[in-house]
Amino acid sequence: MRDVLPQDLANLFSERDRMVVDELRVVENETHIPSENGERIFAASSFPIYDSEDTVTLIGGVSFEITDRRRAEEAEHRQSQKMELFGQITGSVAHDFNNVLTVLCCNLPLLKSERITPEKQQKLINDCIDAAGMGSNLTKRLMTIARKEALTKTSIELNTLITDLVDFLQRSVTQQNVSIDVALSETRLPVFVDVVLVEMALLNLVINARDAMPDGGIITISSGQAIIDETTEADWGTAAPGRYAFVQVADGGVGMAPEIKKKIFKAFFTTKEKGKGTGLGLSAVQDLARESDGFVQINSEPGKGTEVKVFLRSRRARRDNS
Ligand SMILES: Nc1ncnc2c1ncn2[C@@H]1O[C@H](COP(=O)(O)OP(=O)(O)OP(=O)(O)O)[C@@H](O)[C@H]1O
Ligand SMILES: [Mg+2]
Repeated sequence: MRDVLPQDLANLFSERDRMVVDELRVVENETHIPSENGERIFAASSFPIYDSEDTVTLIGGVSFEITDRRRAEEAEHRQSQKMELFGQITGSVAHDFNNVLTVLCCNLPLLKSERITPEKQQKLINDCIDAAGMGSNLTKRLMTIARKEALTKTSIELNTLITDLVDFLQRSVTQQNVSIDVALSETRLPVFVDVVLVEMALLNLVINARDAMPDGGIITISSGQAIIDETTEADWGTAAPGRYAFVQVADGGVGMAPEIKKKIFKAFFTTKEKGKGTGLGLSAVQDLARESDGFVQINSEPGKGTEVKVFLRSRRARRDNS
């Protein structure tokens, strides 16, 4: 056997034959044999053959090729994984769309009130314009997913992006007596991201921070640069060594117990009462981290508050847009 077969296959067959003789049973296995087009896969069964004195004198075997069947199973599995991801992404987009509609539904009735000051009126209108803009970006993202195109990543400065968004975020939480402090790094933070993903991730983080402070409080949005080495741990994603930009949303709210913290990235996990949370908000944060080769760290202590830090790979635009 060793003269005609490659070393590892010969070892496998001898091992199989030894098992048949030692254990006196049918031994089934799958063999992968290298071929010109990758490899061929065989399902084999070996069994002992007894003589009239009940002694094993031969080993019999049946083998048939299952390469095509296995390829079809793999393709089916890949397709179902793709559909699962597709479902999760569309679910989170629909969820973010609901956030946008909430702003419109709250502001438009207020605009009808005659007691409202012109300044307040102007603010509410600006809110609606921003929300409509976000809604339109989300629709574009849905169409992108439907067409299975890549996201539109651009080379952008993270601090500028956050600064442009702060007013909108502030207005999304004002009614709950929550204010936003911004502490951005002085260094420029070039990143290569899809702007809609950053907007949605920040909006969801700010809304989570707001919900964690039912009596009001301060949300701090900060940013910075970090060099990550092998010792860094991630709560979501992989902290691969390298240079990153980060944005952090911190609150002084209810915080999370460790057993809750472990579950929060599962789709549909929520501790909020029915109708208040769908458990999809953090999917937007995962989308951003995934698409930016980044990861997420969370620091949270019950009764003290929560810090969610999203790391994005610092890099410049590449021509292939990937
Ligand atoms: N800043 C925070 N403070 C305390 N708990 C948090 C915070 N952010 C997230 N969580 C916990 O993580 C859970 C999941 O958050 P996620 O944003 O995915 O969904 P949700 O906020 O419950 O619902 P949705 O975002 O769909 O309205 C929350 O229900 C809450 O228990
Ligand atoms: Mg949420």
